[in-house]
Amino acid sequence: MQSHHNHPVLTDTHSFLTVKNIAVNYGEIAALQDVTLSIPANRVTVLIGPSGCGKSTTLRCLNGLVKIDGGSITYEDEGIQDLSETDLRRSMGYAIQSVGLMPHLSVEENVDLVPRLLGWPKASRTERVEKLLKLVRLEPEIYSKKYPHELSGGEAQRIGFARALGADPPMLLMDEPFGAVDPLNREQLQDEFIRIQRQLKKTVVFVTHDLDEAIRLADYLVIMKDGKIVQADAPERILASPRGEFVERFLGPDRALQRLTLFTADRLMEKVLSGVEEKPALAPDESSNRTYWQVDAEGKPIAGYAWVGDKAIRRLIVNGTHTVQQYSSLKECVSKILNLGLPSAAVVCEEGRLCGEVRFETIQQISQG
Ligand SMILES: Nc1ncnc2c1ncn2[C@@H]1O[C@H](COP(=O)(O)OP(=O)(O)O)[C@@H](O)[C@H]1O
Ligand SMILES: [Mg+2]
Repeated sequence: MQSHHNHPVLTDTHSFLTVKNIAVNYGEIAALQDVTLSIPANRVTVLIGPSGCGKSTTLRCLNGLVKIDGGSITYEDEGIQDLSETDLRRSMGYAIQSVGLMPHLSVEENVDLVPRLLGWPKASRTERVEKLLKLVRLEPEIYSKKYPHELSGGEAQRIGFARALGADPPMLLMDEPFGAVDPLNREQLQDEFIRIQRQLKKTVVFVTHDLDEAIRLADYLVIMKDGKIVQADAPERILASPRGEFVERFLGPDRALQRLTLFTADRLMEKVLSGVEEKPALAPDESSNRTYWQVDAEGKPIAGYAWVGDKAIRRLIVNGTHTVQQYSSLKECVSKILNLGLPSAAVVCEEGRLCGEVRFETIQQISQG
């Protein structure tokens, strides 16, 4: 379960919550058995598995709604049992599909619920609600005074998300939040979620039974079956090496290439070899599968070099045409790589500066398996 520590996306973070050997029984039913998990801080952990496998129960254990019958849950050095209910609510926002918005409260009152409970002063609450509505792209002037029955399904989900963020909790627990939304709106909500999460970097635990959704959103994917964890790792690593028949079947056939559309470049982005010099004096150690990027004074890529033996091949780079952005899909990376004939795709950030590369070799590791 510790393997995530040497993954590019999951390094540079610590464990926010540590779950050790927990068990939950409902009478004769063992809902969870020996579940061990460490939730990486500032990342999205997705729990997935067939209905009844224990996803919701796991989530409810994390915020103390369900008492565990064995094992321990440690939250930043304190056991969950030792935290008061208000502490728990403050540290964890909670958005669930079925527990919707309060029908008798307006949008702003719904979003304001937890800050008010925590006794925030009125002025900062008003400001907070406005900020959150803007964050989920619902104009406060239009939406503040509306009631839940006046909202579309997608709008209601956004308000639910804003409410979960209400008191700015470090952690968000989301139980199939987009479950009741039609596929088109669902994809839009996922886009919004990704955009907001990249900005806020919350520690999120997200439950879904939709595999595409899981792969799109997860930094850390946890596959459950019959109250146990069968595999937990970065999704690309699970796709590359599923553990056992159950996971393989769960992922389905031709999983890899199809799913390249779901991964963004920044997940696999690596540091580049680059410089303003026209041509590097020496080929780098792993010359055969690396690119040397020549950049201008502003750090924008001008050319890429690949090595064939000790001979360097130069390709001119046109920003945009030959480069990808952080949130471009891996499919787009592949098409740029094939188009240019270099071993990797250049990733550019704001103002077109080179900020990393995605290597073909790394993409290949995902698509095989
Ligand atoms: N309050 C409860 N009382 C009795 N059994 C429950 C209760 N909640 C969940 N269970 C059982 O525990 C198991 C796990 O349920 P749950 O965590 O809700 O699964 P999932 O969210 O993965 O669909 C199931 O067998 C379910 O029937
Ligand atoms: Mg559930």
